[in-house]
Amino acid sequence: MVGRMSIRIVQLTDIHLSSRENPRVHRVATDVSLALVVDQIRQLQQPDGIIITGDIADDGSAPSYARLREILAVLNVPVYVLPGNHDDPAVMQSCLNTDGFHYVQSTCIGDWGFVFVNSKVDGQSHGHLSAGELSSLAQNIVALGDRPILVALHHTPRAVCPALGCQLQNSAEFTAKINQFPNVKAVIAGHTHNIVEYDAGGHTQFTTPATFSYITHAPLDVPLPTGELWGPHDLDGQLQSFRILDLSSDGSIDSQVCQLNAVDD
Ligand SMILES: [Fe+2]
Repeated sequence: MVGRMSIRIVQLTDIHLSSRENPRVHRVATDVSLALVVDQIRQLQQPDGIIITGDIADDGSAPSYARLREILAVLNVPVYVLPGNHDDPAVMQSCLNTDGFHYVQSTCIGDWGFVFVNSKVDGQSHGHLSAGELSSLAQNIVALGDRPILVALHHTPRAVCPALGCQLQNSAEFTAKINQFPNVKAVIAGHTHNIVEYDAGGHTQFTTPATFSYITHAPLDVPLPTGELWGPHDLDGQLQSFRILDLSSDGSIDSQVCQLNAVDD
């Protein structure tokens, strides 16, 4: 009997490491929460790759990216990174593109192709994809041929909240672009710290909660004052998450979010 070949990818997102003394973000020690998530991953089947969908550093600093390397070293797995709104792409490029860490636009693992997208807008919480980024996205997909493809970015394309800061502004344009390519099977994102699994036509859009906190959002139809960010959000600093994606060579996907209550808030 010929079985389906599959690879396992672990998605981490919104780690928010900080270089401050005794660093805490919303009262959570984000390096401790990441280490606890790593302990959990070590108890599971070894992944073939880790993808981190942005907000690795709360402060975009080199010491925060060095801390990421320290904490993930025990896994000994290739790590692919892309920037979130809190990250500094230039600092990431210099700190996270050697020795098992990859800050690249695309790669192949097993029979799958992966494309990494930058949705960061300087100085803003919300995301947007420039014309150049959308063009690169299409070129990178085409270059990977007809293999199944996963696209990763920071900002969730599926709106979950009325707050401006939670939006990927041109998400409809992004989703339409992706659906031009039937071999793109999945999009993974973060930013909103919650769980989304949405059938967007030819592919599924997955959003994964942060390694340090979960956020419950206000319903989409609640009107908000312009610029309001935290009002519609309820943050739970005692719920840490990551996602497992088992990707088969025929393009099918088996995915689950793993959660632990390990950090004292
Ligand atoms: Fe973010």
